[in-house]
Amino acid sequence: MYLGLDLGTSGVKALLIDADQNVIGSGHGALDVSRPHPGWSEQDPAEWIRATEDAIAELKVAKPRELAAVRGIGLSGQMHGATLLDAGGNVLRPCILWNDTRSHAEAARLDADPRFRKITGNIVFPGFTAPKLAWVKANEPAIFAKVAKVLLPKDFLRFWLSGEHISEMSDSAGTAWLDVAARRWSPELLAATDLDESHMPQLVEGTDRGGQLRDELAAKWGMAPSVVIAGGAGDNAASACGMGTVRPGSAFVSLGTSGVLFAANGAYLPNPESAVHTFCHALPNAWHQMGVILSATDSLNWLSNITGKSAVELTGELGGELRAPSGVSFLPYLSGERTPYNDAAIRGSFTGLAHEIERAGLTQAVLEGVAFAFRDSLEALAKAGTKLERVTAIGGGSRSRYWLKAIATALGVPVDIPADGDFGAAFGAARLGLIAAEGGDPYDVCTPPMTAETIEPVTALSGAYDEAYRRYRRLYPAIKGATDDAA
Ligand code: XUL
Repeated sequence: MYLGLDLGTSGVKALLIDADQNVIGSGHGALDVSRPHPGWSEQDPAEWIRATEDAIAELKVAKPRELAAVRGIGLSGQMHGATLLDAGGNVLRPCILWNDTRSHAEAARLDADPRFRKITGNIVFPGFTAPKLAWVKANEPAIFAKVAKVLLPKDFLRFWLSGEHISEMSDSAGTAWLDVAARRWSPELLAATDLDESHMPQLVEGTDRGGQLRDELAAKWGMAPSVVIAGGAGDNAASACGMGTVRPGSAFVSLGTSGVLFAANGAYLPNPESAVHTFCHALPNAWHQMGVILSATDSLNWLSNITGKSAVELTGELGGELRAPSGVSFLPYLSGERTPYNDAAIRGSFTGLAHEIERAGLTQAVLEGVAFAFRDSLEALAKAGTKLERVTAIGGGSRSRYWLKAIATALGVPVDIPADGDFGAAFGAARLGLIAAEGGDPYDVCTPPMTAETIEPVTALSGAYDEAYRRYRRLYPAIKGATDDAA
């Protein structure tokens, strides 16, 4: 048996698979995000441990014998968070998460130093780890002075599981301290934020061994000693391992809290100017690119909160057929945007409202707005040399057929829906646990699921969608100008 642990933003998922990769069971532990100030987003790492214990306890009740047979664990996690430890391994402050934008000024300052884009292949986004440390140094100097280790969220979980400071390439690529082509820490970039390699965990590949479960936890969960922990992956690369998005040309669109358009690459293909992320994949000698939008299902959840209707009720009001864009546009920048603008200050908007627009019209505009944000990412990937022929849909939002039709039509490519099953980040992490424990060719293990159905673009509406997308593109500079005037 192999256990995948995915430390997400809204919860921890524990997923058990057998040697044939059948899903045997899963458990869940819930997490909240604390937003003490506008733009801030934090979690207490102790809560991650509590949620992991909850998830494993649920699994232990349902599948005690199978849990006891675990030989390998793989870790996946929300990326970019800064977990700060002192020399005694104590947590110094709440973790600053991936969607926290407080360090936008520090990010801009680091990004202006040409070494960062050159060595990391990426813009220094405010959500990345390095600018967060620069913020802590400037605003909480007493804490910064005590920092002995900086760990990404899932690597903090590993520290608790194994007692070791280890990370892997895919998640570390999102820190802005990794030399992404060479797959090693950059002493130069660490020095630019007053840190050095002693502050960083040791690096392994995602498929390698990266620690061993502590005897005390193995005994508590009924496992034999010497359970192997794999390097694992950041949640997007882990999802890619789960979806079999590992060979060049394969791609997925993820409709989660954040939205991701992810493409696997056989080589390192940076293009920071397009605001595409170019990271190491979890497999050795592989890389990937992705466009990241900050509010995907979060945009629909926002509308759901203010209308008092569930997301399913809202999308249900649209019916099954894709509608032509109505003239109402929604910009999904509720917490700023990464691809293509790298703008932490921009905020969302509805434009084109009219008397006849009802609630369904707003829902339609929200779904289209997110679809157009993915089109921005598609075009950014194209500028970075990756042209996508088709994509597979994953994530909670992909349950809405309407949304998938809108995305297929906005992107102009077919969207595949995988056959029923659980192919997300926890599954990908379990696969990495299997590889690290037993060996084997990662490309043979990380295969794609069967496609249950393909959603084709609605060609009759392609022209109307193109026109609505052009309007959408014109709105960002207009809204930005208006906001700047107000400020
Ligand atoms: C990727 C990113 C998000 C988080 C979500 O760069 O910030 O997708 O990984 O957990």
